[in-house]
Amino acid sequence: MAGTEDTLRAFLAIELSDEVRASLAALIRQFRQISSKISWVPPENLHLTLRFLGDIDRVDLEHLAERLAGPLQDVEPFRLTVRGIGAFPNPRRPAVIWAALARPPEPLTVVQGLAESAARAVGLEAELRAFVPHITLGRVRNRRASPVLIETIEREKDLAVGEFTVRTVSLFSTELTPHAAIHRKLKDFPLKWTST
Ligand code: 2AM
Repeated sequence: MAGTEDTLRAFLAIELSDEVRASLAALIRQFRQISSKISWVPPENLHLTLRFLGDIDRVDLEHLAERLAGPLQDVEPFRLTVRGIGAFPNPRRPAVIWAALARPPEPLTVVQGLAESAARAVGLEAELRAFVPHITLGRVRNRRASPVLIETIEREKDLAVGEFTVRTVSLFSTELTPHAAIHRKLKDFPLKWTST
């Protein structure tokens, strides 16, 4: 679904550094050899979602962006450490396979809270599910995971993937196609400018 003329399917996210993206792409290549029954996220689509906005009116989206830009400029850039592979609902029954963050830092919670407030301010329903920061790597198609897949996920629960500094939050549109979702970046919101 691509939304309509007046709406867009959109989400706010943090883009990954090239290094972290490349490490995750390499990991996905290894996982691919284990199971063919998983829809893996193309490397260019890997991201950390802050707030899924769903189908949102373009005018509301513009207002949301205006509301978010200022407060984000007050947040200092911060480091994210990507570490550990896991799965929803749990590693033994994997439906969604993801990479996790080591101790999500406080500024991430702040940034996610700003995204949530901006969404509510333009009339979107509150997100009631707790924020569990994760980078989706793949979705298991038939829910019957092989023992080797389960073992691999469990073995990689502390895998060191990489670290990067978050300097921007991005707004994306997403269009579902039969093959993969197409994400298009609509806007970057810079955090506080620092010289380091
Ligand atoms: P996910 O990574 O956990 O699947 C774009 O679809 C992004 O929005 C994805 O990262 C996805 O999270 C997130 N998202 C959250 N809720 C969603 C929903 N109800 N439908 C589609 N995507 C959703």
